[in-house]
Amino acid sequence: MSATAKKTAPLPDDIKARKGGAPLVSLTAYTTPMAQMMDGICDFALVGDSVGMVLHGLPSTLGVTMEMMILHGKAVARGLKQTMMVVDMPFGSYEESPALAFRNAARLMSETGAAAVKLEGGVHMADTIAFLVKRGVPVMAHIGLTPQSINTLGGYKVQGRGAAAQSLMADAKAVAEAGAFSVVLEKVPAALADEITAEIAIPTIGIGASAGCDGQILVVDDMLGLFTAFKPKFVKRYANLGTDGRAAIQAYADDVRARSFPAAEHIFASDAPTGAAK
Ligand code: KIV
Repeated sequence: MSATAKKTAPLPDDIKARKGGAPLVSLTAYTTPMAQMMDGICDFALVGDSVGMVLHGLPSTLGVTMEMMILHGKAVARGLKQTMMVVDMPFGSYEESPALAFRNAARLMSETGAAAVKLEGGVHMADTIAFLVKRGVPVMAHIGLTPQSINTLGGYKVQGRGAAAQSLMADAKAVAEAGAFSVVLEKVPAALADEITAEIAIPTIGIGASAGCDGQILVVDDMLGLFTAFKPKFVKRYANLGTDGRAAIQAYADDVRARSFPAAEHIFASDAPTGAAK
């Protein structure tokens, strides 16, 4: 690359071509400033439906709507130049039929500028993935723990243990054969994640899976320590912005109460007495 050439955001095919190469780096993003913070560092940013729990205080991702995904997708797009954006399809926007999935995926892509959508499900979503891909919608699949199915999975448990390993492998093969350009493996035993990674031709993106996956993703507020309601075992905190932020707010409150803020450098002097009090 020449000194003046600007790096542009990768496309889904570039991500797919990274299979077996240098690990793909990704995080979720929901706002413009957070997107700017990761632009050019991450290969892709996911506007995850985790936005419902992380930013809106919802108890699960089930209440997330198309309108929320579009609003946050537009905000994230404004902050990215060199990082690809993927937007999650929310619960209820794709499961019913491939045609409904296409209508909503097309809306997410055209209104936000996303390069791809992500949807949850393996074998049972393969027809929908193939339908979307044939019509110009790049799809990232998501298998293992799929939070939108929390009520049928019976909780946020590790998936694919024991006999369930075979059906998870079948899910991975089905989404790869259907044309997904990559697949998120969430909360899957490490050995199974490694087997899937070795078996399928598209990159695996691990979250609570294995360092042997083709890439990793974390919820950005988790890794920055901003979301503190709970910490899944698979999260590594790289900062403690939640506690640092609270300490900063306490320091500000103390300053205001002591009348030491604003100080001389934060206020505007007048040229002469205003006489305004007369
Ligand atoms: O919504 C989300 O944040 C996700 C990631 C956990 C992969 O789907």
